[in-house]
Amino acid sequence: MSKNERTTHFRCPTIAVVGCGAAAREFCLPLLRRYPGSETAVVLVDHSQQQADSVGREFGFTQTCTDYRCLPFAVDAAVVMTPHNLHAEQATHFLRSGCHVFVEKPMAMSPPQSEELVASAASCGRILMVNNYRRLFPSYQRVRQVIQSGTLGKIDRVSIRDGTEFGWNSASSFYFRDPSVRGVLLDRGAHTIDVINWWLGKSPRVAKAEWDAHGGIDARMDVLLNYEQTEVSTRFGRFYRLANDYRIECEDGMIKGRLFDFSRLSITRHGVTETVVAGPARSHTDYAWQLLANFIDAVSGRAEPLFLAADVAPSIRVIDEAYQLATRFNMPWYDDDPNIAMLTRRHQPQHTSPSHRDGNDEGKDGSEGSAR
Ligand SMILES: NC(=O)c1ccc[n+]([C@@H]2O[C@H](COP(=O)([O-])OP(=O)(O)OC[C@H]3O[C@@H](n4cnc5c(N)ncnc54)[C@H](O)[C@@H]3O)[C@@H](O)[C@H]2O)c1
Repeated sequence: MSKNERTTHFRCPTIAVVGCGAAAREFCLPLLRRYPGSETAVVLVDHSQQQADSVGREFGFTQTCTDYRCLPFAVDAAVVMTPHNLHAEQATHFLRSGCHVFVEKPMAMSPPQSEELVASAASCGRILMVNNYRRLFPSYQRVRQVIQSGTLGKIDRVSIRDGTEFGWNSASSFYFRDPSVRGVLLDRGAHTIDVINWWLGKSPRVAKAEWDAHGGIDARMDVLLNYEQTEVSTRFGRFYRLANDYRIECEDGMIKGRLFDFSRLSITRHGVTETVVAGPARSHTDYAWQLLANFIDAVSGRAEPLFLAADVAPSIRVIDEAYQLATRFNMPWYDDDPNIAMLTRRHQPQHTSPSHRDGNDEGKDGSEGSAR
């Protein structure tokens, strides 16, 4: 399907798309372009006028500006696709202005930010959704069904490996320029930790976290999670391709799959293994478009949101807790480097209250190659 093909009869609500980089070009604008009237109903906002104009020409949108607080017309909704550390502030601005918001993952940088966002959406009576589109993968939905059915008995152990060489075509390269956006765990974990919470129907305590960073941007991180009796080991990386699979070992069987096989999984019950095709093989962008289309339908009163940012928020607490607890991998080649202590001090995290460690949030429920 071409990016300009029309597939809907519904007119487009007025929407501000804030941040016109890679995510907007891949997950948002090709879909918005399909709605009749979108040429003038959508305003592209980027602090780089050149970026907004060039993306506008590429997708056929004529309205652009550089400041999300000074839009050329009032909007019904905002799609926030800026770097991570701007999501909470920008999403809150739109919610408080009476707009519905679809925000990229991670929805916020910290638990207080995500809680405040969710509270703002509730108090303003607006829809707040987050682009955790991996929840729509048919294979992931089947995993959840099987787990929740309890037919495989108690879950003993889960392991997930999630990593590829960083190859995403970011317009601003913020992922590596700004240590405050953290690294691979916040980036990929925003999908994967959320999916594990959603599969298991609860939120864990972080037992151990190890990273390769000196307080700045992590490129490899291992996190061990305890979901009551179930131990979950996770591994994240952006240097090279990891195994990219999941394995869920249960009392009476096992569920296994490739992390980026959205369609198939294998289920072993009492020693017999079957390959299950849970749905058609589609591309990861199809799922992101499906979720954004659901947001537009929800804003227009034609559908209920498939899930809300409030459902995803517990994963931000888990990720933050892992960063707070992280210790360095054994990397003896740095031992006699005099700069390491200084770097570590410079990037020391601003510790938040440990009280969140006592919480037990109930959570519910995100490609290889280009998407991370
Ligand atoms: N859901 C997913 O699987 C997925 C995949 C990729 C990226 N993302 C998320 O999308 C977000 C954006 O990532 P990206 O790869 O598109 O980044 P990018 O660098 O390609 O684009 C960011 C854009 O935001 C603009 N910008 C920066 N500050 C701004 C401001 N104050 N106001 C307006 N515009 C501003 C930049 O000029 C740039 O054009 C990230 O949070 C990332 O996690 C999600």
